[in-house]
Amino acid sequence: MNIDFAPLDVLPNNGTLVLLGAADGKLGKVAGNLDQRTSGAIKRAIELAGDKFKRSSVDLVCPGGVEWDRIVVFALDDPAECSPHDLEVLGGKIAVKLNALGVKTAATAIDALAGLAHSELDVALALASGVRLRNYRFDKYRTASEEEGENQTGGMQAMTFHLADAGAASERWAQTSAVIAGVEHGRDLVTEPANVLTPAAFAEACKTMGDEVGLEVEVLDRPALEKLGMRALLGVAQGSEQDPFVVIMNWKGGAADEQPVALVGKGVCFDTGGISLKPSGGMEEMKWDMGGAAAVFGAMKAIAGRKARANVVGVLGLVENMPSGAAQRPGDVVAAMSGTTIEVINTDAEGRLVLADALHYTKERFQPKAMIDVATLTGAVIIALGHEQAGLFASDDGLAQQLSVAGEAVGERVWRLPMDGGYAKHIKSEIADIKNTGRAREAGATAGAVFLQHFVGDVPWAHLDIAGVAWSKRDLPLAGKGATGFGARLLDRLVADHFES
Ligand code: BES
Ligand code: MN
Ligand code: ZN
Repeated sequence: MNIDFAPLDVLPNNGTLVLLGAADGKLGKVAGNLDQRTSGAIKRAIELAGDKFKRSSVDLVCPGGVEWDRIVVFALDDPAECSPHDLEVLGGKIAVKLNALGVKTAATAIDALAGLAHSELDVALALASGVRLRNYRFDKYRTASEEEGENQTGGMQAMTFHLADAGAASERWAQTSAVIAGVEHGRDLVTEPANVLTPAAFAEACKTMGDEVGLEVEVLDRPALEKLGMRALLGVAQGSEQDPFVVIMNWKGGAADEQPVALVGKGVCFDTGGISLKPSGGMEEMKWDMGGAAAVFGAMKAIAGRKARANVVGVLGLVENMPSGAAQRPGDVVAAMSGTTIEVINTDAEGRLVLADALHYTKERFQPKAMIDVATLTGAVIIALGHEQAGLFASDDGLAQQLSVAGEAVGERVWRLPMDGGYAKHIKSEIADIKNTGRAREAGATAGAVFLQHFVGDVPWAHLDIAGVAWSKRDLPLAGKGATGFGARLLDRLVADHFES
């Protein structure tokens, strides 16, 4: 959708107008003025709605005294206390409401509400972010001929935010919208089915995106991976007709001699489980087992798109996990690129095998000052945290803290789970250095994390297990059902807050 900013004095006087009011019914200057012109219709509508207004909004259709078709007033709960993220959530509510009303374009007046903790500029940007994030749709496979009801294509197309400082808002929006474009593109990839988004297609998408935003993109194909000795990753891919790839995306926005931050993503374009085959119920969901790679992709697009003053490298391990006569067997032993030997107890614990080589490669080649991997790694993290927060594991307390704060700020929350305290022995193998599963029904998400830790050396490292949050079966404040794009904004924020000069 198109979002822009314009001064208040060019507020149009027809169509749909969005206003903000405090939840207690107090109005700002613009809304107060319109209330007078409509002979008090706005205040009366708010009073009539009572608590319903506090929870959401009221709308007036063709109010007398003005030419607007519709005025919708949204309640801002506690203007003095609300966080920027609360304002984004309010933007999300605006998108949902206007879509329910069938509105295609609207103007929003940013009013100076009494006691508001943020500048009008910040309010406008946060609302705009929320509107755009929540208004995302994936309509690629809907044909116009089948359009009906909930399946219709389209949705809100444009919104103008009116405020005094429209010029400054437009400038800042260029940055913000670059980040949202990263989230949206990541969601697109997560939503694509596995017959379309093969590892090869994902690698191709990286190149195209890289050209668009000025990222250096390098693609390692099977011969290159064989030469590097990435036998853990190759073992996962070996049952599939689809070639595996490792993609390296490099953004050099910082000083030439500065070590980069590295982001590493699990990109299993489809996870059948392999020979340790998953049950068929819900298996279609495993098209989004590349959600970690999509988060890194989205973050890289955001970071390059807003020309971050930092060196950041994104590495994706792209494979498909299939059963076949050529597939890896339970019990096979593979040597990872690092030399560590791994007994593959369960071919469905494939993400950690892919990341083992991707992490080792990244560490050796880039010597990053911090390394964060993102992966839909375990069902166990969903048992622990549900769909509310991602699991965070870290070898470095500072990095863990920074990720928690960044997650809080963007509404992508992470909860730290333990790695020390005896878990390392859960993955000891009888015949190899380590095995790829822990103990049945014991700390499964941690078993994944301690496995990965074998491949990160002493680089400050964190692992985000996003299995519970990459996809949502319910509507969320900033995303409808489906791909959330979780991780892209979080990683972008981490870089912005801690790694930019
Ligand atoms: N991709 C799955 C994890 C997953 C499960 C993501 C459910 C999203 C929803 C991963 O590859 C997997 O299969 N993990 C196994 C590991 C086990 C065999 C040790 C799991 O969690 O069951
Ligand atoms: Mn699996
Ligand atoms: Zn998987």
